[in-house]
Amino acid sequence: MSDLIEAAGYLDDTYHRLLASLVKEANPGSVLEIGVGNGSSMVAMASTASRRTSFVGVDMRIQEGLRETLDAHGIKAELVETLDFVEIPKRRADFVHLDADHSTIGVFRELLQVDQWNEPPKVISIHDWIDPYTKWGVTCFIMSTSSPWTVEIHPEVFNGCVVLRRGK
Ligand SMILES: C[S@@+](CC[C@H](N)C(=O)[O-])C[C@H]1O[C@@H](n2cnc3c(N)ncnc32)[C@H](O)[C@@H]1O
Repeated sequence: MSDLIEAAGYLDDTYHRLLASLVKEANPGSVLEIGVGNGSSMVAMASTASRRTSFVGVDMRIQEGLRETLDAHGIKAELVETLDFVEIPKRRADFVHLDADHSTIGVFRELLQVDQWNEPPKVISIHDWIDPYTKWGVTCFIMSTSSPWTVEIHPEVFNGCVVLRRGK
């Protein structure tokens, strides 16, 4: 995977290794990333996904060159440009990665929406745990939900990651 990491201009190996290992373990049928950016995190997740896994990447601005990066790694993702992923029908996914709006209300709202899907995801990973607003957004969500999410913090990752797993 390190070739892929260098090819996509990754910011941190531990972050992408964590995403790759989470996807490998969860073996999701579908992955939704909010804040797809330059595609490096999607490339990491796709590196351990099965061939049948579908990918959707959402961003307020689809970057120039993103489609080419994904094509170069054989990822046929649907890319959606919007500020608000929940307005798009059928966004549900087995695995969700949040790395977009890092405000407290933004993170909280994204998590609430995902939690209220008819079939919530098995795993949600959230980047930038180190950010106090992200941390508060996740904390508010955990305090407000009655759903069985367990929380796993990854301080070893650049800027930190928090992983929510359902039903454990
Ligand atoms: C840190 S970058 C994502 C990096 C990417 N996940 C990776 O690791 O390679 C954050 C992205 O979120 C997008 N973003 C920020 N706020 C957003 C919002 N409210 N809705 C959609 N996208 C947003 C930005 O345009 C930016 O591309």
